[in-house]
Amino acid sequence: MKPVKVGLLGLGTVGTGVVRIVEGNQQDLNSQVGSPIVIEKIAVRSTDKVRSVEIDAAKLTIDPWEVIRDPEIDVIVEVMGGIDQTKEYILEALERGKHVVTANKDLMALHGSELLAKAQEKQCDVFYEASVAGGIPIIRTLIEGFSSDRIVKIMGIVNGTTNYILTKMSQEGASYEDVLKEAQDLGYAESDPTSDVEGLDAARKMAILGTLGFRTNVELDDVTVQGISSVTKEDITYARKLGYEMKLLGIATSSNEHITISVQPTMIKQNHPLASVNGVFNAVYVHGEAVGETMFYGAGAGEMPTATSIVADLVAVVKNLKLGVNGLKAIVPYKTKKLQSTDQ
Ligand code: NDP
Ligand code: HSE
Repeated sequence: MKPVKVGLLGLGTVGTGVVRIVEGNQQDLNSQVGSPIVIEKIAVRSTDKVRSVEIDAAKLTIDPWEVIRDPEIDVIVEVMGGIDQTKEYILEALERGKHVVTANKDLMALHGSELLAKAQEKQCDVFYEASVAGGIPIIRTLIEGFSSDRIVKIMGIVNGTTNYILTKMSQEGASYEDVLKEAQDLGYAESDPTSDVEGLDAARKMAILGTLGFRTNVELDDVTVQGISSVTKEDITYARKLGYEMKLLGIATSSNEHITISVQPTMIKQNHPLASVNGVFNAVYVHGEAVGETMFYGAGAGEMPTATSIVADLVAVVKNLKLGVNGLKAIVPYKTKKLQSTDQ
């Protein structure tokens, strides 16, 4: 059986987890797809860095183009982050007929429709399950699980770093700065954590969820955003005394042909299921007209949970390769509704 060759862009928190799962679960993955999955080349910033997984040094390169242009490589797994340059890498990979798996919500929220259109033109897959809520398979759930329903509301705690910070401030009285540093050390935060604490990361994820859930194009500019940097310990203590928990909550609603999406620190009644989502955990509440209320819960960031989603996408790509089909075509959205800014 010919191996399926993967080019990995990035070997940081998520990339390391991908290597661990692909190598650690090799036999099981192989039996699911009928071929060995081999990580052929890896682009990194520095080839001298000490890595926490054993890597054949010959596989490392500091030039992502070397990975993209390698004719032997079938699938690109992009876990290095970045927007404009990374978009060029992915477009070129698709142009060359390579399938793409990415964890990059920044890129997908801003340029997802262009990348998905290119993928469709080239009959390639672009899968991005890891881009929202780490290990929770929420993207597949919205596309496939709820294809029969009309979703009217999505609420989400979709940023692990801020939920970790708010939880530690609330339960341990820890300082904002100390817990942010901890979240960075644990690999939860973005390379520039401003996007976590100012709500932009959650806004990007809500834009993706809104696009898929409401089957329309949600632009990032349509999301009203406020982060947690101005939330104090006193705010949290006061909220608790009143029977609430403070959470950075994304809320997307669809009604009367209008959609509104916002991300902001929100006081949630302590008896609401979202109030007990703590630490790095995320949860996405989805209300469909037919199904009613549902909720999905799990680790929203970190090496292994995020890598689980990436490798599941990789398995889906390889299965499609074997069958000669592309999957989840419905992720190319169509416009159905007008967007209404929440601050109007
Ligand atoms: P890290 O910063 O830990 O890793 C980034 C990796 O990419 C590093 O290996 C780095 O090389 C490499 N890299 C960065 N820029 C370049 C470049 N220009 N050329 C070659 N290599 C480069 O990031 P994460 O693993 O945390 O995140 C990766 C992506 O996954 C991001 O898009 C992030 O938003 C997303 N994500 C992260 C999650 C998490 O929990 N961390 C969860 C879900 C999504 P070197 O090692 O040499 O520095
Ligand atoms: N920085 C992000 C978070 C990583 O904390 O949720 C997962 O997307």
